[in-house]
Amino acid sequence: MAIEVPAPAESLPYEALVGLDQAHLLHPQHHPADHTDPVVFARGRGAILWDVRGRRYIDGLSCLWNVNVGHGRSELAAAAARQMERLAFANAYAGSSNEPAITLAARLAGLTPEGLRTTFFTTGGAESNDTAIKTARFYWHLQGRPEKTKIVSREDGYHGVTMGAMAATALPAFHPRFGPLPPDFRHVPAMSAAALEGLIQDEGPETVAAFIAEPVQGAGGVYPPPADYFPRVREICDRYDVLFIADEVITGFGRTGTFWGLQQWNVVPDILCFAKGVTSGYLPLGGVVLSDAIRDVLYSQPPEVKWMHAYTYSAHPTCCAVAHANLDVIEREGLVARAARLGARLQGRLAELRNAPAVREVRGLGLMGAVELEPGAIPGSAGAVVAEMKRRGVFTRYRNDSVILAPPLVIAENELEELADVLAATVRDLSTSL
Ligand SMILES: Cc1ncc(COP(=O)(O)O)c(C=O)c1O
Repeated sequence: MAIEVPAPAESLPYEALVGLDQAHLLHPQHHPADHTDPVVFARGRGAILWDVRGRRYIDGLSCLWNVNVGHGRSELAAAAARQMERLAFANAYAGSSNEPAITLAARLAGLTPEGLRTTFFTTGGAESNDTAIKTARFYWHLQGRPEKTKIVSREDGYHGVTMGAMAATALPAFHPRFGPLPPDFRHVPAMSAAALEGLIQDEGPETVAAFIAEPVQGAGGVYPPPADYFPRVREICDRYDVLFIADEVITGFGRTGTFWGLQQWNVVPDILCFAKGVTSGYLPLGGVVLSDAIRDVLYSQPPEVKWMHAYTYSAHPTCCAVAHANLDVIEREGLVARAARLGARLQGRLAELRNAPAVREVRGLGLMGAVELEPGAIPGSAGAVVAEMKRRGVFTRYRNDSVILAPPLVIAENELEELADVLAATVRDLSTSL
């Protein structure tokens, strides 16, 4: 299929943009040394991005694991424009509401697992996880168990960087110099249900509010769990009255080949957090879906016991309208099934690298994958591979020794092959004589 390349918008020259950027724009995970020669993105279509210098890149990570339906979808732009003309924003605090948010919450109730039907909207992943953490504590208070406050998360888990989410995030790089962290957060080894049970017993189940986990760890390096892990986690959480929060911020909306990541193991959480793929990044939106049991407790309190949690942009009508248009695309184009089919192909291509001397391990599920290099096999390791892949027209990210991939669910088959070919050739070309 020929891809139409939109005409470049009028813009400043690259050098002028970078000068202004370096003078005025503080970036996520900022260090000036990482920003000497930035890519300045200008346009996108499907799984392809172009920068202001006209260079073409395959979007190897759906930008930040979020552009599931691909770039340049005019129907999402039209949905935003229609809603902005009608009512761009409205207060949605209790006592007021709006139609796109109402119908989106109802639509999500038909997409979430049985028994999860009540959504609170946020504008992103960290806000969703903070909401879930606060709600878990609030719930136990209402149940007469205010000492249940501890939040358990997994080593290498990434849950965002607001205060609460940062404390749950258990990637060591995110904590130094931001302390003190909020109390009552604990981390356990990621893939051991026995370790979770041991920690709950050691801490005292009467002090543990919730366990939070990504179905497939993403930013930590793409780690799918053993098949029995989440079923056992569910049992343990039930046994000790610990709420199970699923952080589906990456894995939701089809990424792994099922609509939700936890559906891979038929496990239902008590609170489901989402963001990213709900709008494919076209506007910021996230949310938490509560179990009926939690909702019933929240809804049956006397008037003075309000759930005093709120964001100005909760239930933002324009963001919700765009989410509807995004879900329309996912459904009409069968993108969840496509992720399963193309995901198998991606995993097959990555598996071919398993025996390469520079490769230690390949991992993945659906359209999420990682290639971990042998330490020392390539000078500069995964960072050097990602830099060279960028020069060869694939844009992605890495963690430690792992190159990570999560292309848009719409990536064309030949683009997926190109992505895998560039990765394989780069690893081969940069490998020292092993
Ligand atoms: C699993 C997971 N949870 C939460 C977040 C935080 O989302 P946000 O950056 O929208 O706050 C991320 C972001 O990458 C994520 O991958």
